[in-house]
Amino acid sequence: MQQFDAVILGAGAAGLMCAISAGRRGRRVLVLDHAPQVGSKILISGGGRCNFTNTGTAPDRFVSANPRFAKSALSRFRPRDFLAMVEKHRIPWHEKTLGQLFCDNSARDIVAMLVAECEAAGVAIRTGARVTEVTKPGPFRIATDRGEFEAPALVLATGGLSIPKMGATGFSLDLARRFGLRVVETRPGLVPLTFEGAALEMMRPLAGVALPVIARAAEGPRFPEAMLFTHRGLSGPSILQISSYWRPGQPIALNLLPDQDPAALLLDRKKARPRAEPRTVLSEFLPQRLAQSLAEAHLPSMEMANQPDKGLRALAERLRAMTLTPAGTEGYAKAEVMLGGVDTAQLSSRDMQATEVPGLFVIGEAVDVNGWLGGYNFQWAWASGWCAGEAV
Ligand code: FDA
Repeated sequence: MQQFDAVILGAGAAGLMCAISAGRRGRRVLVLDHAPQVGSKILISGGGRCNFTNTGTAPDRFVSANPRFAKSALSRFRPRDFLAMVEKHRIPWHEKTLGQLFCDNSARDIVAMLVAECEAAGVAIRTGARVTEVTKPGPFRIATDRGEFEAPALVLATGGLSIPKMGATGFSLDLARRFGLRVVETRPGLVPLTFEGAALEMMRPLAGVALPVIARAAEGPRFPEAMLFTHRGLSGPSILQISSYWRPGQPIALNLLPDQDPAALLLDRKKARPRAEPRTVLSEFLPQRLAQSLAEAHLPSMEMANQPDKGLRALAERLRAMTLTPAGTEGYAKAEVMLGGVDTAQLSSRDMQATEVPGLFVIGEAVDVNGWLGGYNFQWAWASGWCAGEAV
């Protein structure tokens, strides 16, 4: 039986940051992960370049049953704190858009930085370790296929259910339940939406077409970002963002011409380009394949001069506020995050400790706090991990 001050289950973003902050305080820390390498999700994040934080981080960029919960941790470990670590390790980075900070080279730089910081802080990391049992006779006792460990603090940091083929599990949720914690219903978030019937027939031939839109679900904010047609429906940043607010059965609304007044445009072109085909006019503002599809579906095949104003206004309204009802999502296989998770009502917002189970901490994606697309989820992982590490 080996003794530690804290055992952290999961060597991902949150777990490694927790280990760094606890190790720097002189705590004896062990991190266990069942995967053969640490930080697997960091490595695939941001298209391999890891969008490691967002300078616009604020509690309203997060989805949770308690939107105020994230405030404390986010204010104690800020994007600039993470950036300071990145700069200390001389990792080249750039701001892409909307405050999103990415590595210039590779997400490997971030994983190497976290591992180096763990080493400097004297943290022990064991990968390829399967946890077989966790009990709490007094301190926590963690049995694995690579030995038994004991510690007064146990940190659940095994992430969420997205990308199961990479070994994602509901381990933290199951263990939290066993210790009496509630779990807010989980579902895929930041995920492409799927469609059926006539909507899918319209979308499928457009697969690969992308355009800027404003998207919104029945609840939640509007997202002015790109949208992409896929073989199964819709994706792209704007759709991934609203997927975290979308509920089955509810419609979504799309503005396909965000910066223009479509009615004024079409009526103007009727006068200015009377001999033009509607699809030619629409392709001035929209990708060609989409312009053709919309013209064929919604206008008679006549030149602009002969199009009744009523028909043009109806199409304009469709462009401004297209309402569609998704059939579902592409599920955890394609989701960037799991929504829901361990209920924040039973955790301290200051250090992520379970209020009823002293010594038990839950951090990162396993908690019911989920960020928008754009580096917010890593910032939550760093912040919640850091705060727990200050307390274990
Ligand atoms: P994380 O998943 O990082 O780590 C959990 C660890 O626990 C893993 O190492 C896993 O192997 C281990 N584990 C799981 N079950 C276990 C068990 N039973 N026993 C032991 N160990 C176990 N976010 C962002 O801000 N910017 C971005 O660019 C991206 N990009 C991105 C791309 C893709 C494709 C995905 C799927 C996700 C993103 N994300 C993202 C989201 C981000 O990756 C995610 O929010 C964080 O990794 C969550 O950090 P955690 O430490 O909570 O879990």
